[in-house]
Amino acid sequence: RCGHCQATRGPSYSQLQTSDVEWFKRCLGESNVVTDVERLKSFNRDWMKKYQGHSQLLLRPKTTQHVSEVLAYCNERSLPIVPQGGNTGLVGGGVPVFDEIILSTQGMTRILSFEESSGALVAEAGCVLQALDDHVTGHGYIMPLDLGAKGSCCIGGNVSTNAGGLRLLRYGSLHGSVLGLEVVMADGTILDLLKTLRKDNTGYDLKQLFIGAEGTLGVITAVAIQCAPRPASVQSVFLACPSFEAVTKVLGTAKTMLAEILSAAEFLDQHCMRVVEEQLEGVSNPLTDSGTCTAASAAVAAAPGSEGTNKGPACTDSNTTTGCSTSSFASTFDPDNAASSSSSASLQLPPRFYMVIETHGSHEAHDVEKLDAFLEAVMSEGHVLDGCVATSKAQSDSMWHIREVIAEACGRAGSVYKYDVSLPVQVMYQLVEAVQQRLASQLPHRQDILTLGYGHVGDGNLHLNVSVPSGYSQEVQEVLEPFIYEWIQGHSGSISAEHGIGLMKAGALTYSKSLKAIQVMSSIKSMLDPKGIINPYKVVYKQQA
Ligand code: FAD
Ligand code: MLT
Ligand code: ZN
Repeated sequence: RCGHCQATRGPSYSQLQTSDVEWFKRCLGESNVVTDVERLKSFNRDWMKKYQGHSQLLLRPKTTQHVSEVLAYCNERSLPIVPQGGNTGLVGGGVPVFDEIILSTQGMTRILSFEESSGALVAEAGCVLQALDDHVTGHGYIMPLDLGAKGSCCIGGNVSTNAGGLRLLRYGSLHGSVLGLEVVMADGTILDLLKTLRKDNTGYDLKQLFIGAEGTLGVITAVAIQCAPRPASVQSVFLACPSFEAVTKVLGTAKTMLAEILSAAEFLDQHCMRVVEEQLEGVSNPLTDSGTCTAASAAVAAAPGSEGTNKGPACTDSNTTTGCSTSSFASTFDPDNAASSSSSASLQLPPRFYMVIETHGSHEAHDVEKLDAFLEAVMSEGHVLDGCVATSKAQSDSMWHIREVIAEACGRAGSVYKYDVSLPVQVMYQLVEAVQQRLASQLPHRQDILTLGYGHVGDGNLHLNVSVPSGYSQEVQEVLEPFIYEWIQGHSGSISAEHGIGLMKAGALTYSKSLKAIQVMSSIKSMLDPKGIINPYKVVYKQQA
């Protein structure tokens, strides 16, 4: 019985035989069939080390034809499989539950085409996101998604999870940017939907079914995706805010004043900042660290190209942050001057939240002017206590690094219960506080548990993490669930904003979907995969008789 979803191994599934392994070796070549227990370990375990599968077989097909032959065989033999890309998923969707065969796309890494005029990229499912971004950079484009796991996750996994990431606010969801897909169905049929057209209104848009299906409806073997022109001007700022309400005000101002150039609006709370600084060597708060982008306390350093706009002296107003307009902030990045204005009043109010705000535009002087006006507004209204503007790519990268490594830092601090939630922005952080209060009242002896919040505030997407140094336990889980799911439902949210349902939330789908909707999902699953061989126990699962 699965400890997470209580399912038992599907009774209709066959047991893997030596003759099956021999068949796979003949089909794929010996080196692409892995049975070695040691080599299988990392494929059986998820990124968080929360879910543990028991597969005895890993297959690494190199072509769509091979995927097709493998699935046709597995379907015939009733052998269940789990598709896997980079294995960075956060809901237990990409690892086996029992002994499912792991079908890895990591051998399918060819870039098939790139249309310079339109920005349409076609790539095999196993291409790593970072590698694709590097490729299109050479042509003046960027991938329309970016996430902390970009160095390991694969485009097939991104599409299968409908990954959101750091710039969805600007470039939209994969439901909009995926132009076409090639998918192998459960019976081995190759479904060629690999168009690169921007418009194709020819009846049901079948590719949409597989975007976010988490590998339950078919195996994606290739993806056509619309890339965006690489922005000529990128500006990043790191801000400290006194409250979550201030974060929402900054977001509102960014949406109106930065408008069409706004490309990211992220937030993290003070607990995230602490855990990142504690757990990861060399990572520190840019507002207090002289080595990073430093605009000493209330001063906001001007971005490059802003000469003429930010010429004033460093802010010396010692009583009020709100008295400082951007025109009176330090105009240059000066590491030696890091703590020069630490007497500023802004330090009297400890920042409880931080934000990364970024713009992507085509004209630096125009973007900097807009950014200055935005900063002036949020600081004069008291929504920002302190901040700095990156004056180089290295500074921008280090700001982003803090945001991107929170997941890793939490994992180092303990075993992490992750909740990836959509909520109306106004109530979003109340969930973190509600969970902190609940843990304090239900488990007063467990003061070691760390509850923190961060995420894509611009998209109404909160990441609530509960990090438990002593490891996963039934005791903690029962305090968290179903409390969190009920809270989300009660506030008209969604139990999954971007990570998906996987194994983790298969039993909680009713908190965000009606029974009728789940029935329709189950019918689609049964129609496309009647024997239930692709990624069983995940998302919608009906035990096979
Ligand atoms: P895997 O983990 O291998 O698989 C994920 C799911 O997709 C599984 O259900 C699997 O069966 C299925 N799958 C994989 N490949 C295929 C295929 N070719 N065909 C059919 N099904 C397939 N997610 C976000 O949305 N936004 C973020 O900002 C974000 N940041 C992250 C940061 C870190 C540090 C980490 C570890 C994860 C993050 N994620 C984020 C989670 C996210 O889901 C993944 O990183 C990514 O999209 C999964 O890709 P993958 O190749 O690793 O897929
Ligand atoms: C992120 O936004 O950092 C990712 O979704 C990973 C996480 O939630 O930890
Ligand atoms: Zn995220």
